[in-house]
Amino acid sequence: MGITGQDGYYLSRLLLQKGYEVHGIVRRSSVMNRVRIDQLKQEIPEHANRLTMHYGDLTDNASILNRVLELEPDEIYNLAAQSHVRVSFDMPMYTQQVNADGALNVLEAARMLNRRKTVKVYQASTSEMFGGLPGTVPQSEATLFHPRSPYGCAKVAAFHHTVHYRESHDLFSANGILFNHESPLRGENFVTRKITLAATRIAEGLQSVLKLGNTKAQRDWGYAGDYVEAMWLILQHDTPEDIVIATGVMRSIEDFLDAAFGAMELNWQDYVQIDPDYFRPTEVHQLCGDPTKARDLLGWRPKTSFEELVRIMLEHDRELARREKWIGEMATKS
Ligand code: NAP
Ligand code: GDD
Repeated sequence: MGITGQDGYYLSRLLLQKGYEVHGIVRRSSVMNRVRIDQLKQEIPEHANRLTMHYGDLTDNASILNRVLELEPDEIYNLAAQSHVRVSFDMPMYTQQVNADGALNVLEAARMLNRRKTVKVYQASTSEMFGGLPGTVPQSEATLFHPRSPYGCAKVAAFHHTVHYRESHDLFSANGILFNHESPLRGENFVTRKITLAATRIAEGLQSVLKLGNTKAQRDWGYAGDYVEAMWLILQHDTPEDIVIATGVMRSIEDFLDAAFGAMELNWQDYVQIDPDYFRPTEVHQLCGDPTKARDLLGWRPKTSFEELVRIMLEHDRELARREKWIGEMATKS
């Protein structure tokens, strides 16, 4: 579930490279929304024949139940969500339906299948459940939840359902509590990607202003490619466990701006405008994870540094900006 998203791309690539047969659930939409999947097939054509898509929607219980019972997977990764925190304030009910009720649909389907054969379920839980109030960092598995958005509230419900199915139905269901992870395939309206797209477009003369909200917020940013390995390791562990996945280092949006604009030899203060539209009714101020359990139990450590993450995102987006500029120049010549 969630195969067309950022993490869906990286996890599918990892599983295919490990020899898995991968089945993804995709939503029907009026335009095909499979850009990342198409990219994956082009990058590893030798594995593409083990990747299959099926229509389904997390809010449609029957579609999830039918797919799970038909396909009889050994492992289910529920990555599907309305994943934008700011948007969840505009669509609280929908966010709850997808992120909480949808997760319950997955668990219920897995419980049915588990009567026939053993199945393991990974639930994409999040640092947003902690709420990031000052004085609560670093956050670990023992930190109390204090969600600050409809997104966070729905994810807390899904977290507890996942624990409950483990305890009451003997299902192997586990939560990865992942802190922010980014990549060149990050959605364009998350702050890191918004910044790398803007910095590179400004460097190419395609943009002059970047509008942002609260640049003082702090996050623990890692690389999505490293984090999907942790998802896989969580399901390979002997027992189902809820585990924080993070780097343990916290930086502000302004630190990210410094790194991205600095690499383009630009001063972000010359381009950034603060726009109240991008502020949230309640902000999550400080997220910084304590990944001790992940290290001790799974042997997992992040491999990609913050500087390397910013570099690969900029490299990708600079190429996009150059292509956009070239197309613009060709259009004016013809
Ligand atoms: P993403 O890029 O927004 O991908 C979300 C995926 O969910 C997409 O494939 C989307 O499909 C699918 N989806 C949404 N609503 C659905 C529905 N009703 N039925 C079926 N599929 C649906 O998110 P991501 O960054 O890869 O994150 C993956 C998961 O980890 C999410 O659950 C997110 O909440 C959680 N998480 C992310 C982070 C992070 O920093 N990235 C940190 C902690 C937890 P469409 O392509 O059709 O929209
Ligand atoms: N998106 C966005 N756009 N965020 C902005 C902007 C802006 O223009 N300006 C400032 N921010 C601030 C937000 O207020 C927030 O404090 C921070 O940048 C990060 O915002 P996002 O990149 O949207 O990510 P997020 O932390 O809210 O949520 C992401 O990480 C969670 C894990 O902590 C998402 O991937 C969630 O799905 C995930 O659970």
